[in-house]
Order: sequence, then C-alpha cells, then structure tokens
Amino acid sequence: MVEKEDISTGGEPGISNKQTWWKEAIVYQLYPRSFKDSNDDGIGDIRGIISRLDYLQSLGINVVWLNPVFSSPNDDMGYDVSDYRNIMTEMGTMDDFEELLKGLHQRGIKLIADLVLNHTSDEHEWFVRSKSSRSDPFRNFYHWWPAEKGIPPKRSSVFHEEGAWTYDEQTDSYYLHYFSRKQPDLNWENPAVRKEMYAIMKFWLDKGVDGFRLDAFTFISKESGYPEIPEQYKDDYFSYYSSGPRLHDYLQEMNREVFCKYDLMTVGEASGITSGQALLFTGSERKELQTLYHFDHANWGRKTTSLYYPDENNRKLSDLKKIFTSWNTAFENDGWGAVYFTTHDQSRMVSRFGNDTTYRKESSKLLFTFLLSMRATPYIYQGDEISMRNIRFENITDYRDLHTINYYNHLAASGGDVQAFLTAQKEVARDNSRTPFQWSTKKNAGFTNGTPWINVNPDYDTINMESAEKDTGSTLHYVREMIALRKSLPVFVYGDYTLMEEESETLFIYTRRLEDTRVLVALNFSDHQNPLTLPADFTLVKVLINNYPGVNNEINNKVTLQPWQAIILEYK
Ligand code: GLC
Ligand code: CA
Repeated sequence: MVEKEDISTGGEPGISNKQTWWKEAIVYQLYPRSFKDSNDDGIGDIRGIISRLDYLQSLGINVVWLNPVFSSPNDDMGYDVSDYRNIMTEMGTMDDFEELLKGLHQRGIKLIADLVLNHTSDEHEWFVRSKSSRSDPFRNFYHWWPAEKGIPPKRSSVFHEEGAWTYDEQTDSYYLHYFSRKQPDLNWENPAVRKEMYAIMKFWLDKGVDGFRLDAFTFISKESGYPEIPEQYKDDYFSYYSSGPRLHDYLQEMNREVFCKYDLMTVGEASGITSGQALLFTGSERKELQTLYHFDHANWGRKTTSLYYPDENNRKLSDLKKIFTSWNTAFENDGWGAVYFTTHDQSRMVSRFGNDTTYRKESSKLLFTFLLSMRATPYIYQGDEISMRNIRFENITDYRDLHTINYYNHLAASGGDVQAFLTAQKEVARDNSRTPFQWSTKKNAGFTNGTPWINVNPDYDTINMESAEKDTGSTLHYVREMIALRKSLPVFVYGDYTLMEEESETLFIYTRRLEDTRVLVALNFSDHQNPLTLPADFTLVKVLINNYPGVNNEINNKVTLQPWQAIILEYK
C-alpha cells in the first residue's frame, strides 16, 4: 500500500486522510457483455473493449471494475463461475485478457477483477465431484444436508421463492444456494476451499490485475449445523446471512495470505451491512478490506416489504441525504467508502434519481456532480456518461435476467399479479442497466452487426456516444470536466463534508473543506426553481462548475437555482 503523508483537515488528522491511489481513484464499471461486440455474435467481448480503450482514457477515469469474464454457463451472467482461471468463451481468450490489461496499464488505468467468493457454478468441477458421492474428497467444498435428517431448516434464496436448499437425487441430499440453483454456496469452513480461493486471487494478481471487487462476500460464513434462523431475522435474511460467525476471521486470513502482499485495491459488495458496522470491515487496524459499498440508497424508493416494487412514498430527499451523510460519518476518521448510483444490479441512475425526460441531461449532470464531489471513491457505470435511461421492457420475453424471469414465473404459477410486477420491473429490473452501450446512430447503436443478446434501447437515435461527442452541452463533456475538477483539487477527495439544509426535500447542499480550500456544492433535486441561501460568511472565489453555463455565475446573496441545477462554488 502506498501511504503518503496525512492531509490535515484542520482538526485531528484522521487516519482515513492518509493518501492512497485507491482513495483518489475514479472507477468506471464495465459490463463486458453489453459494452462492445467485436465478432458480431451479439455478445460484447474483450476485443470489443480493446477497440474502445482510447474512449475510456478520454473520460479521465483511472480504474476499471470489470464484471466477471471467467468461464461460466451464464445462468447469472458470469456470477456462476465454472473455471476461475479461464476466460469465458464468448468473452475471448486469455491472450485477449492480457492484451486488455496491458492496454489499460499503458493508458494509466488500473483493472479490478470481480471475484465471486460465495458460490461457484454447479458446472464447476468441484461441484461435479462434490455431488458425485458422499465420500468424494470434494464433498465438503459445499454445504450438504442429508435427506435422512428430514427437511433442512428454511433458508431464503435471492433468486428462487422455493428457498435456498435444493434436493439432489444422486446422493439423496440437499445443497445450499443463497442465489440460483446453479450457484451452490462454497463451504468456507473447509480450509481447502479457502486455500483454493487464495490461490485464485494470487493467480490474477500475479497476472497484473490491480485488485478485486468481492462479490457477495458478506455471505461466506455460515452457522454450522444450519440452525433455524432467529426470529429477529425472519424478514431480513440478508442481515442474517451477512452476520456469519467467522466472516471476519476469513477476511483477516485473506488479507494475511493475499492482500497484504500486493499494492492493490479491494472493494466489498456489502449486502446486509449497516454504516455502524463499516469500520469492522475497513478500519485500518482490522486488516480486512480497504473499501466497501452499501445498499442503503439502493433500497430507497423501494417497498420495504419487497425490493421488486418501487414505492413513490419512500422517495424523500431528506432520507437520501441522511443515508449518504451517515456513511460519510462512518468513514470520517478511519476506513474509506465508495459512492455510486447505477450498477449492473440497479436500474439507470437518471431514471431513478433524476428526471429522464424533460431534464435528462441536467439531472444526469447533477448526479455526476454529486458522485464526483463526495468523500468516497466514485463509481461510474458504463452508459451513464451519455445519460442512458431505463429501457422499460413491456414483455417478460424481453428480459434476460433470471431474477426477473424466476419471480415472474413464480407469480404466474401462484396466481399473483404479473401485470403489476411487469410495471414495477420497468423501474427496478436489473436488465434496465444491462442493455447495450449506445455508440452511434448505426444499426443496434453500433454495438453489434449481429443480433444483440438483449434489446438495444430504441432511444439510441438521439442518445449515443457519437452524438454526445459532437454536442458541447452533453453529459459526456460535463463528466470529463467534472472528473478533471475532482482530480485537480484534493478537497474533493480528502476534505471534510458538512451537510446543510438537512430538512429540505428539494435541495442537497454540502460543503467540503481541506485546510484553506472551501467549496460549496449546491444541487437542486427538483423540476422547479429553488432559492439558495449561502452561508453567512460567504465570499465567492470562483464558480468551479455549473451545469447551466451562464446562469448564476454572478453569485450574490440571492441565487435562484434552476431545475436540476448543480453548481460548485469555491469560497472564502
Ligand atoms: C452480486 C452480483 C449480482 C449477482 C449476485 C450473485 O450481487 O452483483 O449480479 O447476481 O452477486 O453472484
Ligand atoms: Ca462477441
């Protein structure tokens, strides 16, 4: 780990202000299946990414998080790995991967790989061996419940309403899968499993990858004997799954065996983790992970009873501000966070947090102003930089994600309201962010000349990269400017964060301060004009960025923000 000197914020310098590259990183999440197809089979691939390396560099990002490209039957789009040391056929070859890595490094961009720790594919040779006989040496690589003990205690599955235990005839036993039936959970209690996983990590690090995004890592430790789930967790199985008894032991061992030997970046997908627990994973004394990303705002705007449905009444900006502020507080003195809106598991940010019709560009720019001015490592999801929107499929046959398809089938079979579900999916389905990147006005948005694996959003005639390049007022140009701004002033990375106007349901305003540099970020999260009240001692030094160029550049006591206006002011 490269640790430079502390940057003091004026008070007691927190350990979290120790400078490191991964705190200063600007991450671009690349979903390879939908980025660029090089051989017209309709599936994005590694050579497709290689053909767009200059574009990535032009954004100013310096880390790529690449979704899984390992061998996989793609039941869950690469999150069901059948061989961790090989590249999925559709994605290309190991040579392609090495060329990609080299091309990124030559452009000053690091790569973090997506490591699936909790489960493998059922087609992985370990599982094939494991299920072959109760006495196979690989039996204990997974979790089994012999049928003579009766029905195993209930466990919920993210992808199957029928639950997380599936019966397998061959050995008359049930196996555990928190996700799909084709994603059996690994048994981390078994030291041989841990040894194999650490060797896989070293394999990729030795190849030159710069770190890992740890998929579903909070679920790896299971209570031995699989007792009944305590009452308090009955409606919140994520919290139960992520409170396994040996989770921290495994992370510390992983750090000792692998992480501490490399200058790498680690980011954990922290399902079920609260801000109060954040430092248990990222505190410097803990020697576990460097950063993690949470789901609190991903659950905002959703029904608390079921994340499959949006909830208009659960969309208070004040709640959103509380969420981000509490996570900021968690990392004030130690540890470090991540900030994102879209991922491959969340719908498009402009459709969800902005206004994707009248104020598509303005609200996209506002959301980027937020992401790139917070005290956490920002993540940009591919396509958001050209303000791509939810596709909002009409028919179940348009969907490719097993999450949506399985739940639809469950509802259909049990007489549920499939129409209401389809309407809800237009806002929440994961496939909304998985449609192909829109490069141009050419056929299939220039993604492929073949038949794309998932439909291209028909709005590509206006929303595409080539048009955005030509339009100086585009989100794309603004994102580049905002990235450059973040990189130019350390206050955006290391400065203190202070929320103002906590109660406002339309304005998100905060200051950042590092030594003598002070900036005020003003974001109008609404379709209406809004007056902005400046701090009493405010003297403007400079308008640093403004998504309504020319409006409000003359800052005095009375400023009216335009709909979805975002402005950053440096002041004394
Ligand atoms: C993570 C991934 C998601 C996947 C799941 C199971 O949440 O981000 O896409 O379905 O893990 O691996
Ligand atoms: Ca292809």
